[in-house]
Parts: sequence; structure tokens; C-alpha cells
Amino acid sequence: MARIKTLDTDVRAKIAAGEVIARPLSVVKELVENSLDAGASRIEIDIRAGGKQLIAVNDNGAGIAPDEILRAVERYATSKIATIEDIGHITTYGFRGEALASIAHVSHLELESSDGTQGSKLEIMGGEVTGVHECHRSQGTRVRITDLFYNLPARQKFMKSAQWERRLILALIKAYALIQPSVAFHIREGDRRILDMVGIKSTAERLKTQYPRQLIESLIDFDKEVSTVRLVGFFSRPDFQDTHHVNYLYINARPVKYPRLYRTILDTYENPKNPPAFLLHIMVDPGSLDVNIHPTKNEVKLQDERYVVDVLRQMIRKHVFGSKDLKVQDTGDYRPGTSASRDTQRFVQDGFVSYEPSTQKEAAVIRDGQEFWQAHDMYILAQMKSGLIIVDQHVAHERIIFESIMKGRSSSQRLLFPITLELTPEEHRVFKKTRRCLKEFGIDFKEFSSRTVVIDSVPSDAHISREDLEGLFSELDSLGNLIQQKSEVAKVVACRSAIKAGQKLSVVEMQSLVDRLFACENPYTCPHGRPIIIRLTLDELASKFGRV
Ligand SMILES: Nc1ncnc2c1ncn2[C@@H]1O[C@H](COP(=O)(O)OP(=O)(O)OP(=O)(O)O)[C@@H](O)[C@H]1O
Ligand SMILES: [Mg+2]
Repeated sequence: MARIKTLDTDVRAKIAAGEVIARPLSVVKELVENSLDAGASRIEIDIRAGGKQLIAVNDNGAGIAPDEILRAVERYATSKIATIEDIGHITTYGFRGEALASIAHVSHLELESSDGTQGSKLEIMGGEVTGVHECHRSQGTRVRITDLFYNLPARQKFMKSAQWERRLILALIKAYALIQPSVAFHIREGDRRILDMVGIKSTAERLKTQYPRQLIESLIDFDKEVSTVRLVGFFSRPDFQDTHHVNYLYINARPVKYPRLYRTILDTYENPKNPPAFLLHIMVDPGSLDVNIHPTKNEVKLQDERYVVDVLRQMIRKHVFGSKDLKVQDTGDYRPGTSASRDTQRFVQDGFVSYEPSTQKEAAVIRDGQEFWQAHDMYILAQMKSGLIIVDQHVAHERIIFESIMKGRSSSQRLLFPITLELTPEEHRVFKKTRRCLKEFGIDFKEFSSRTVVIDSVPSDAHISREDLEGLFSELDSLGNLIQQKSEVAKVVACRSAIKAGQKLSVVEMQSLVDRLFACENPYTCPHGRPIIIRLTLDELASKFGRV
């Protein structure tokens, strides 16, 4: 490891400094990042009362030489950067030379380290060094913090319950452990071992040890490199709708908060009720990433943000929604006769998508028999090779109509009995605002003097009644400013035109609905974000019936 040097004032001036130690979590984060920067393969964390009474982090990393130990706790002393240019190419978690000094100022800190030659130990209380000794220890570093915030009573009060603080620490360590799978992480609280993760070969393997099988099986993995950006990770299939807390975002191995990227993911999934599960690692040239915008270092700025957003969106569209073959896989061989793409075959091998490609014959067997049932005149049940799917008929149809009118593919059907509407002044105002858009969507009409409108055509696929049309304008009105957006108007039209719950469907109708649903770009969520399909695999059924 490079020597620890105090940064020049001009470099210091460029560093986003600030109070970074807000709670036990921040201490653990800084210490663990130091251990990782030191190349540790094993990190042991001891806490008491959720870290409020004690935090100790012990590692087997490179360690600190005895003649540098005092410098390590000085402000702006770091071995990770030296010049202003270095700030533009950061490859380590730390770089400001601030963390240990900040922690030492608000606690009782003991630092014990060995670089493999000689061990040394340092004690500091509120920033004042109270002792330096030689000591025996193997290569690595141990930092022990007690009396956190003893000199900052306001911040002490700000800490929450031990349970709360512990939960934050556990979540943080999980985030680092997933992106650093080869490192062993152990957390103990008193005698209790609260987390043990041995070093493992990949993030995928680590995910498997941490999350339920059902979630793991819902994940599609990807590794895409486009120009200078590489995206690696996992996204849940769009029909996975469970609640979970898997939303990990990393840039160059750093866990980050990046609202724009998070929003892009949600938008591309069309804002489902439950956000998708994902672990996304974006790798870019360190020179095109600014990690120096916030003192906590977990907010960063991509130089080519728009480009990365585009690549991400396309990647999700193509690999999670897009590829027709993938859809066949996703829905458990619903469509006969399509062979799996190279990518999907790879997914199968990796064990993240547990479907096997179907053969035409197998799928046909299912097709020949009775494979659709309607439950409560509301849901369509369809059998597949890998289990069964339940489709909400209303939202399925809503999605089909939405996509077809948005793409301008919808033709009109003339009503045998045109529907005359007497609009209120308000409704008439909304009508005038939206009539062009409605015409485009296939709702055609004749206008009479005053506020009488006769609707004589509706989108060809629509199941629309007088009541649906009567409520249309007041619902459009409730959109407020969103009424300007074509897609928002389309959502309302699609919802009003869709088959309702309570409508009986024949097998042929159900089959056609499901066929057309799977021809949609996003057959999994309705335009308002509700799930359309629920999948029950044979494995899940077997486990519910205690067969396995
Ligand atoms: N666990 C450790 N193993 C080896 N060296 C360490 C360890 N912890 C700290 N150091 C050394 O002490 C220096 C100061 O650590 P500190 O965390 O204060 O700053 P930093 O990591 O350089 O930057 P930042 O303030 O952004 O974390 C580091 O640059 C490193 O050389
Ligand atoms: Mg550090």
C-alpha cells in the first residue's frame, strides 16, 4: 500500500468535505470501506446495542506501518490519492483522508494495526492521542470505537433504538458483501453471531445465500458492454410482483444512491405497484465518474449520465421485456415452437431462469386440450408446462388496447347504435381539449350545436358502453395538467374500453386475449402499474402441498 501523506491545501480545497459521521452506520461504513481498500479478504464486525455502545472492525488487509499510524488519524492524511489529478480517477472507496479523523473526534477510538512487520496501537479520546504502543498482532487492522458521540449529546439523541441501528448496519453490510463476494463478512453482537457470510465466488452465489429461492428464480441475469459502459447484474422478471428489498445499485463497486437511474428502472418497468428486484452494477471509466460530490461518497455523478440512462433503458427493454424468446421463457412456454436464444439458454444454465425451452409437440399437447378456465368471471387460468398463470382479464385487455392505440394500430368499429351524449359545460371543455387525441385513438363522433356529441365509432377492440363513455370526460378532467399527455389520455381510454370484471368469456375469447397479451411489449403490468399475470410454478404448488 502507498504511504499515508497529508494532502496539500489545494487538493483539500477540492474535496467535498463535511460532517460524515451521523450514526453508528456511518462509522461501520467508513471502517469497512477502509478494510476493503486495504484488500482484506475477511472482515469481522463486533457491535453492542446496535453499534451505539461499541463498534469494532477487524480485518486481515495490508495494515498500517508503525511509523504511519499517527498519520492515519490526521485529517486529510491518506494513502489513496496525492494530487488533484488523482481525484479524477478514484478507484478506492476512500480518498479524502477524513474518516478516521472524524470518527476519532467524536468517540473513544483504538486503532491497532500491523503491516506484517510490526504491530502498533493507538488510543484517542475526542481527537486527543492518549497512547501509542507497540503490540503483537497478525497483519491487518482493528479499529474499536466506544463512547460514540460522548461529546455531541444532540447527535447521541438522534440515534434510534439499538434494533433500528442494527438493521441499518446489516443492510449496509449486505450491500457490500454482494458486490465483494470473495470477502468474508461476520457480524457479532455480544455472543450472538448475527451474520456470517463466507467468501464466495460470485455475486450470484451470494444472492442465493441471502434471498428466497422464489426471488432468485425470478431473476434474469445480464452482462452487457456498450462502448465504455458495462452493466452487470440481475433484474426480476416483470411478472414477479412480490414485496422485497432487493434494489441494489452500484457504480464501480460503490453502493450508490442515484435517483435518476432508479427512476429509469421504474419507468422502464412502467411503474409497477411493487418495484422490481434488481442488483445493477454499472462499470465506467473512473475518469468519467465524479465521486467527490457528497461527503458520504454514496452520491456520485456520471459524466455521461444520459448515455448510461439510455443504455440501461434499452438493456431492460431488450433483456427483461424485449426478446420474444425471453418472453416465451418467462411465461413458461406459452408459445409453442420458438427456440431459446443464446442469452436465455445461458440464463437457464446459470440457474436464474428455471424454464426449459419447450418443444412444439409438448406445447401443442397443452393447446389441444382445455387449457383456459375463467374464475369468478374475472380471472383467466391458463395451464403451462411449468405450472399455471392467472391473468386478470380487465387489465390484460387494458394493456392490449393501450399498446395498440398508442402505436396507432387501432382501427375503429362503427357502432350499430351511435351513443348520444349531452355534455356538461365542464365535460365539453374537456372534450374540446381531447377530441383530436380521441379521434386518433379511434373514438369518432359528430358534434352538434351546443354540447351534444354523438359517438359513432370506438376502437375496434373496445367493449364500451354508454356508461363508460359518460364517465370518460370527467375522468379525463381529473387528469389535470396530465391531460396534455397522449399516453395519459390513452390509459383512460384503454381502461374504459377494456373487458370488465364480471364479463363471461368463451374459451376462444380467453385464448385470443392471452395470445394478444403476449404479443404486447409489456404483458406484465397494466398501464397504471398493476400486475396482469400471476404465475404459479409446479415447484411452488408442490411446496404448498407439502410434496417437497
Ligand atoms: N483498515 C485499514 N487498513 C489499512 N490501512 C488503513 C485502514 N484504515 C485506514 N487506513 C489508512 O489510513 C488512512 C486514513 O484513513 P481514512 O479512512 O481516514 O481516510 P481514507 O480512507 O484515505 O479517505 P476517506 O476519508 O474518504 O475514507 C487511509 O488512507 C489508509 O492508508
Ligand atoms: Mg476511509
